[in-house]
Amino acid sequence: MKILILGNKGQLGSDLTKALSANSSYTTLTTDSDEVNFENPSELEELFNHLDKVDYVINCAAWTNTNLCEQNPSKAFLINAHSLNPISKYCNKHSIPLIHFSTDYVFDGDKATPYCETDLVNPINVYGDSKLKGEQYIIANHKKYYILRIASVFGAQGIGGKGINIIDTIVSKARENHEIKFVTDQVISPTYTQEVVKCVLKILQTPDFEYGIYHFACQGACTYFELANKVVELLGLKNVKVLPISSKDFPTVIKRPRYCALSTEKISKLYSPKRWEDALHDYLKEKGYLGKELF
Ligand SMILES: NC(=O)c1ccc[n+]([C@@H]2O[C@H](COP(=O)([O-])OP(=O)(O)OC[C@H]3O[C@@H](n4cnc5c(N)ncnc54)[C@H](OP(=O)(O)O)[C@@H]3O)[C@@H](O)[C@H]2O)c1
Repeated sequence: MKILILGNKGQLGSDLTKALSANSSYTTLTTDSDEVNFENPSELEELFNHLDKVDYVINCAAWTNTNLCEQNPSKAFLINAHSLNPISKYCNKHSIPLIHFSTDYVFDGDKATPYCETDLVNPINVYGDSKLKGEQYIIANHKKYYILRIASVFGAQGIGGKGINIIDTIVSKARENHEIKFVTDQVISPTYTQEVVKCVLKILQTPDFEYGIYHFACQGACTYFELANKVVELLGLKNVKVLPISSKDFPTVIKRPRYCALSTEKISKLYSPKRWEDALHDYLKEKGYLGKELF
């Protein structure tokens, strides 16, 4: 099976490319922003004009810096939304299934139980808004799509392939301080890229799997405070104390949903993700943080 992966150098794209390239059932074609920049629609047009027939398209590309998206909405919409118009039109024209990743930030966070796929969307920041518009282009143009809404992603390459994500941030804060502060009033569903990779492989291997929107994250949910505590516990850092704070004491550039837990019930019929605590343990091991004198 020949697969085009867009955004192959990000934290998800790189793990997915590595896994598919290592599997003899798949041939991968990859592009990143230095080859095809979504800010420039003619570059996508050029790609599709010269692309040999592929069996699948997987789009891992996005502008994920939520603060910068807020400051530059037109760039956010070009990359996260409008690019999905030509991508999904191309897939539709050639009847190619498309796997695309969206976000928990399509929700406003006002719920108190995990969000399922039928819940009303209502983004409260530019990033969420732009990703929702991307979903809408796909749904309008194409029938053969899997939109996986994922959340608080951590993978070994780090965001944008730069080695840093929420877990690495916690580790480096704990490395430098005896007391670290994290908020207790924002609930997230952490998502390990290796779990997403396993789910994508299952999709590729299940041709009759129903198209549509799916929520995918590691099972369970936690606050940033609980996540930081678990990191500290797994690393055995008895001298580091995690202090609870409120998001009011930690102002951010953007409004963040208060509660973003995702229900994975629908996707679990295909692949049941690990609990976030177990995935976190796997990640710390993959990064070489476990069993090592870090401090
Ligand atoms: N990170 C999260 O916490 C999170 C949460 C929910 C959903 N998601 C979604 O999950 C997917 C994967 O996220 P990720 O964490 O792997 O993101 P990431 O590490 O930031 O990677 C994004 C990829 O998109 C590429 N990209 C950025 N601007 C581009 C442009 N103008 N043209 C073409 N490509 C461009 C990047 O390439 P360059 O590095 O070369 O610019 C990179 O390869 C995305 O759809 C994201 O929206 C992520």
